[in-house]
Amino acid sequence: MSKIILTGDRPTGRLHVGHYVGSLRRRVELQNSGEFDDIFIMIADAQALTDNADNPEKVRQNIIEVALDYLSCGLDPAKSTLFIQSQVPQLTELSFYYMNLVTVSRLQRNPTVKTEIQMRNFETSIPVGFFTYPISQAADITAFKATVVPVGEDQLPMIEQTKEIVRKFNSVYGEVLVEPEVLLPSNKACLRLPGTDGKAKMSKSLNNCIYLSDSNEEVRKKIMSMFTDPNHLRVDDPGQVEGNPVFIYLDAFCRDEHFERYLPDYPNLDALKAHYTRGGLGDVKVKKFLNNVLQEELEPIRQRRKEWEKNIPEVYRILEEGSKRAEAVAAQTLAEVKRAMKINYFEDQELIAEQAKRFGEQ
Ligand code: TRP
Repeated sequence: MSKIILTGDRPTGRLHVGHYVGSLRRRVELQNSGEFDDIFIMIADAQALTDNADNPEKVRQNIIEVALDYLSCGLDPAKSTLFIQSQVPQLTELSFYYMNLVTVSRLQRNPTVKTEIQMRNFETSIPVGFFTYPISQAADITAFKATVVPVGEDQLPMIEQTKEIVRKFNSVYGEVLVEPEVLLPSNKACLRLPGTDGKAKMSKSLNNCIYLSDSNEEVRKKIMSMFTDPNHLRVDDPGQVEGNPVFIYLDAFCRDEHFERYLPDYPNLDALKAHYTRGGLGDVKVKKFLNNVLQEELEPIRQRRKEWEKNIPEVYRILEEGSKRAEAVAAQTLAEVKRAMKINYFEDQELIAEQAKRFGEQ
């Protein structure tokens, strides 16, 4: 069986380092591993509109931001198909048929949808489109017969929902759809990188994100003012590394070779953590190290972004080409789906002959 990746992001803002360690970095590695037959990376604008219906301009502006973030991280249009969800109408059509396979109570139990409803104060008036977006996400994944979906932890319930739809569809209509596997980050820090203020969620409104497109100076300032262990007041005090954002970021980003380059007094992160826990290691020193590590990782991304920013029409062209290619693939799956569902009347010569005979006999 072919190995196919589909994943994507809502274009509601620039992508940050949480997106990077949670999924983007992995996507680029998978892309360059050569192990996959096809890779689809989608800018989920239709999904973004399910809770931004009155703010289409925000979605429109952020499409290019996300595309630039993708390209600057190393997603390569020659190897991965980058496309825009709304430009592939087959996805909407598939969603409509999948809706018959899912119950309202099943959607109401989806934990991610539940939290999002609370976060958006939708409790009393949930837009139907928003409520059903897990179904549309199943269409995104199955339209490309994706076998692997690299995403962050919050997307697990969506993949579960997709698997259920696939099983139900295949049992009712015959084996057409492919059950996907989720691919989560292997390291706990990457599963959920906290905000620079220590809050669990990074969000634009909390102003606690480090963006991939931040300048060197912006990143440095954000790191130097990062929340740490609040009880580590003096250098000599013993410090806590668990739940300490500076150390969580180091868990996500630093490798032993970074110590040779920037902090040769320590062989590795465990040694640094041990010293911090014992006491005698100041926050500023650790933050400076984190700054060096993060700048090293972000600098090539920034450089590539600068290059792509000089050629915005080319970026739109890449998305247009990608969307055409994605549409062609989704159209094939849709045709198979309609055949299986017996709603392919005009290509079904047998049906036409059968009906002609039935009426002829009368
Ligand atoms: N829900 C994802 C997000 O919030 C975006 C998305 C839409 C997606 N469709 C998808 C991710 C299909 C993986 C697979 O960013």
